[in-house]
Amino acid sequence: MECCFPDGFWWGSATSATQSEGAARDGGKGKNVWDHWFELEPNRFYNGVGPDRAPQFYYRYKEDIALMKELGHNSFRFSISWSRLFPQGDGEINKQGVAFYNDVIDTLLDHGIEPFVCLYHFDTPLALQERGGWESRETVEAFARYAETCFRLFGDRVKKWFTHNEPIAVVEGGYLYDFQYPNVVDFRRAVQVGFHLTLAHARAVQAYREGGYDGQIGIILNQMPAYPRSQHPADVKAGRIADAFFNRSFLDPVVRGEFPEELVEILRLHDALPVMREGDLELIRSHPIDLLGVNYYHPRRVKAKEHVPHPDAPLLPEHFFDHYEMPGRKMNVYRGWEIYEKGIYDILMNLKENYGNIPCFVSENGMGVQDEHRFLRDGMIHDDYRIEFFREHLKWVHKALQEGCNVKGYHVWTFMDNWSWINAYKNRYGLVAVDLDNDYRRTVKKSGLWFKQVAENNGF
Ligand code: BG6
Repeated sequence: MECCFPDGFWWGSATSATQSEGAARDGGKGKNVWDHWFELEPNRFYNGVGPDRAPQFYYRYKEDIALMKELGHNSFRFSISWSRLFPQGDGEINKQGVAFYNDVIDTLLDHGIEPFVCLYHFDTPLALQERGGWESRETVEAFARYAETCFRLFGDRVKKWFTHNEPIAVVEGGYLYDFQYPNVVDFRRAVQVGFHLTLAHARAVQAYREGGYDGQIGIILNQMPAYPRSQHPADVKAGRIADAFFNRSFLDPVVRGEFPEELVEILRLHDALPVMREGDLELIRSHPIDLLGVNYYHPRRVKAKEHVPHPDAPLLPEHFFDHYEMPGRKMNVYRGWEIYEKGIYDILMNLKENYGNIPCFVSENGMGVQDEHRFLRDGMIHDDYRIEFFREHLKWVHKALQEGCNVKGYHVWTFMDNWSWINAYKNRYGLVAVDLDNDYRRTVKKSGLWFKQVAENNGF
């Protein structure tokens, strides 16, 4: 074999509650921000398709889990829907929600698939959002209680926990760039949200440690290496700042216990430091994670600013760097994202060299394709482009392993085509196709068969 992975390597996929479950109004679930935003502005969602039309994992999890097993999974990450467990975000618990997640966990275990559970994947309960969401300290405390409840209910069987998925996306989407509710564009409020997400994470880690559970707890972070256009000091500086904003803003506090000095300096200069209480920084400092999940799709390329921003322009991270389109870059033409496989190696080496070689795994990597039915032949999607995408990334993961990186597994995004926020079903990512017009019928893609082989051979 060209690439042979260590025994026990984690092979699987990831999804999130809102993107897979459906049943948005069923089973006693309370509304979250996605249900609400879709009611307000269905036009913001691709083809007007909302979260209720996620692929119905809530009703079909048993067949889905059997198919995961069939496709070689030994592990699977999903998230708990906060408002399915606590319809109001806090207070009274929904017993139907508890029963559902208990059965998902038990079914996974019965199939020899280890559940990796994430507590928050963009789906703030509406009741909490209406009281300020992540801008409010109340949400931090509600999250700590929710996390504690999950550990108590499911911690006997779930041994891998993740507090948040891509918290920076909540800051970016909801408070800077208008692709998530509440569609605010305000740098200072964004910083406050980022700080509270970090604090909520630390409170959950604290609850896990104090509960004396025998598993591991971490977080899932999207890492986009920020490559400068050139080695000119101004470009390099632009790269460092983009890295501080989008990668290190969460990576540093959760692993090293402190925020990047460069970022703090920028916030101070722009009078944008968040409101904190005594003891907050110490709480973050004293609760490092056990395990890091890395989501990687594409790199970020930047250059020094070409024009001084207008003094009245709203403050955004782009105040400090410009985006750069590298000539000749390889593209996923079906999604419009760059493909740069070596990026995953650079991320892993950075973790090895600068973050104490923390135990980690690739928690999402995948290729979105618009109008994928174009590739349907003889009843199967022939997604050779996706097989190549996975294979080329895995080669770099393998190289990182050989060079001593502490990388424990590879999860693709995603098991079956799912509902992707405002993009709904625009870009398909699954190993398994979902036919929306045909009772959500599942059909394995060619990449699903390839993945099965790789997982079962532990390499390729
Ligand atoms: C990832 C998110 O960054 O991107 C997923 O964690 C999301 O939740 C995925 O579905 C794909 O995004 P898109 O916009 O191509 O559908």
